[in-house]
Amino acid sequence: MLSWILWIGFVAISCLAQNATFTRGQKFQIILLGVPDMPKMPLPPTDAPVWDIDLFDNSATTVATLKAPGKIVICYFSAGTAEDWREDYKDFAAADLGKVLPEWPNERWVRITSQAVRNIMAKRIKMAADKGCDALDPDNTDGYQNNNGLNLKPTDSIAYMRFLQTEASKHSMKIGLKNSLDILPDVTPIIDFAVNEQCAQLGECQTYDNFIALNKPVFHIEYPKPLDAQAAKGLSCTAPGVTGLSTILKSLHLDGITYYCDGSFVDTPTVNGTVPGRPSAPPKPSNPPGTTVRPTSTKMTSTRTSTTTRKPTSTPGGGCTSKHWDQCGGRDWKGCTVCQVRFFRILLVGWFDSAPH
Ligand SMILES: *[C@@H]1O[C@H](CO)[C@@H](O)[C@H](O)[C@H]1NC(C)=O
Ligand SMILES: *[C@@H]1O[C@H](CO)[C@@H](O)[C@H](O)[C@H]1NC(C)=O
Repeated sequence: MLSWILWIGFVAISCLAQNATFTRGQKFQIILLGVPDMPKMPLPPTDAPVWDIDLFDNSATTVATLKAPGKIVICYFSAGTAEDWREDYKDFAAADLGKVLPEWPNERWVRITSQAVRNIMAKRIKMAADKGCDALDPDNTDGYQNNNGLNLKPTDSIAYMRFLQTEASKHSMKIGLKNSLDILPDVTPIIDFAVNEQCAQLGECQTYDNFIALNKPVFHIEYPKPLDAQAAKGLSCTAPGVTGLSTILKSLHLDGITYYCDGSFVDTPTVNGTVPGRPSAPPKPSNPPGTTVRPTSTKMTSTRTSTTTRKPTSTPGGGCTSKHWDQCGGRDWKGCTVCQVRFFRILLVGWFDSAPH
């Protein structure tokens, strides 16, 4: 009897052992607003082997429940910014905080060269391991291409990725590179996957050609507007370099609503996300997105906004309520009546960046 119990235990542990295998083209789901509604397991899309979820918001139980039928769980956190609503925000020293992100007034660049910052991240990575995450999706490692106020350089981001990967590997976790295309060749040997936002929109997907040739997946998110089955026939899925990526079409909320390039749709049940009413549709651009694209890896003046879903607790920059903050926000935003500008700007980021300054 005892040996039987031990055997069951061994099988259970073996199944939960961290042995995530990433391969090119794996289907995925990403939920950063709210948490997957576990009592509704098996959750759609049931054929997605990889799930990217928020490190802080999800419990060890959620991670274990996802992993039980063999899912690979990637845990998302911001490694390059301090988000003022996170439980460890107070641990960041003032001297390590840089400029506020233009799109996210509750978030500031952090000095990724600082040992104190790295200590905070090491704790987060330990937390990810304790929760059973298979891999990490550290966001905002592209401070060098933004006005960060800390004089961060691409070499700082490369060193930082090496640090994060070393910490992850101490706990047998894998790691991916979020956006940060300029440093992709430098960190390719130490990462198992990449996460990309809007490479189709920005005409940059071919930058991953060599990466996917190594059989590593690129979990690729586009934010088409409108988000519907028709979008799966558009640029998001047809731009050069998209074939071979693991493409998903979402709203900026990164909630359960999801289209794939095969035209399929799922609305993965979530809880604790506060999905606000959407602003009215923005006006059509005079110069449609996609007609001009930012050249890859040259001009670094952009403020490409990394992921997306935020639950700030303090007052947003525009002076509206937090409900409205979720809809719009950003320091450039002058009030609720024009709050759609932010979505507009993000969707047009390539257009704005290539426009004369
Ligand atoms: C771990 O992954 C490797 C490579 O895919 C595989 O050969 C091995 O059987 C896996 N081990 C477990 C315990 O699942
Ligand atoms: C949802 O939020 C409540 C309040 O913060 C919390 O008690 C509960 O555990 C959360 N549910 C899940 C599934 O995370």
